[in-house]
Amino acid sequence: MKFKAMLIASAMAFVPASVMAADLTIGFSQIGSESGWRAAETTVTKQEAEKRGINLKFADAQQKQENQIKALRSFIAQGVDAILIAPVVATGWDEVLEEAKESEIPVILLDRTVDASDDLYMTAVTSDLVHEGRVAGKWLVDEMAGAKCDIVELQGTTGSSPAIDRKNGFEEGIAGSDNLKIVRSQTGDFTRSQGKVVMESFLKAVGGENICALYAHNDDMAVGAIQAIKEAGLKPGEDIKIVSIDSVPDIHLAMLEGEANATVELTPNMAGPAFDALDAYFSNGVVPPKWIQTESKLYTLKDDNKHIYETKRYLGY
Ligand code: AHR
Repeated sequence: MKFKAMLIASAMAFVPASVMAADLTIGFSQIGSESGWRAAETTVTKQEAEKRGINLKFADAQQKQENQIKALRSFIAQGVDAILIAPVVATGWDEVLEEAKESEIPVILLDRTVDASDDLYMTAVTSDLVHEGRVAGKWLVDEMAGAKCDIVELQGTTGSSPAIDRKNGFEEGIAGSDNLKIVRSQTGDFTRSQGKVVMESFLKAVGGENICALYAHNDDMAVGAIQAIKEAGLKPGEDIKIVSIDSVPDIHLAMLEGEANATVELTPNMAGPAFDALDAYFSNGVVPPKWIQTESKLYTLKDDNKHIYETKRYLGY
C-alpha cells in the first residue's frame, strides 16, 4: 500500500467515507465529448468529486489514446492518490498501467474495459456491454414477431470495448431468428455527425425501402441517423425501426415523437461507485471486486418518455 494510503488507513479508520474522500487527489482521463452520454459522465464525475471534497484533476484526451497515455504519465508524476480512466480503445494499455502499478497508484476503469491482465487495475466500473447488445437484439426479435427484417448497424469507435461487445451481444440476441439479418455494418464513431453520414450511405447503398431496422451502438448515432432517414423522405420509427443504447434525453424526445423505438440505459454515474470503492480502500483497506457492474434497463414506447426526458434533462444531461 502507498505510504499516504497507509497513513490514512491507520489514522482515520473510523472516520466516515465522505470525510475520507476529502483527502484524495484523483486524476481522471476522459476520452473526450463524442456523445451526449459522455458529456453527462464528465458532468456527473465532477459533481460526485465536488460532493465528496475530492481534488479532481481532469484531462480531456480529445479521442486520442496517446493523449490518455500522456495524461496517465502526468498523473503518476504528480503522485495522485488514484486514477480513473475511460479507455478509448481496448488494447495498448499494458505499459502505462504497469507504470501506475509500480508507483502503487490504483487505477479504476470507467465505462469501458481493456485487454490487459486484471492485476494492472483495481476494478472496472462498467455495464455488461454484451448484455446491452443482447437486450437490443432480443427487443427487435420480439418486435418483428417472425417478419423478415434487414438491419443496418452503426458501430461505435473501432477497437473500443463497447463497439466490440455491443456488436457481439446483438448478434447473440438475434441468433436463431432467421428472419433477421444484418445487411450493412459500419462505424459511426459514436458521434451524431458520423451517424448521419453513414446512415446516408446505407440508405443510398441498400435503398431505404429495403431497410427494416437500425441498430446503433449509441443514441447519438441514432439521432444523426434519424435526421438522414427524414431527409430521405422516410419515417424513422415506422418505416425503419430504431433501437440504440444510452438512454440520453434526446432519444426519449425522439421516442416521444415516434421517431425511435427503444433504448438500453447506461448510467452516466460511473464515478460514484468508483469513489466509493476508493473510499473503502483508503479508509480500511477493502479491495473491491474486479468488476463493479452498473444496471442496464430497456426503455420502449410503452414507457413514459416525456417524464424520462424531463427527469434526465433535470439531472443535468
Ligand atoms: O463507453 C460508453 C459509450 O461511449 C457510450 O455508450 C457512448 O455514447 C460513448 O461515447
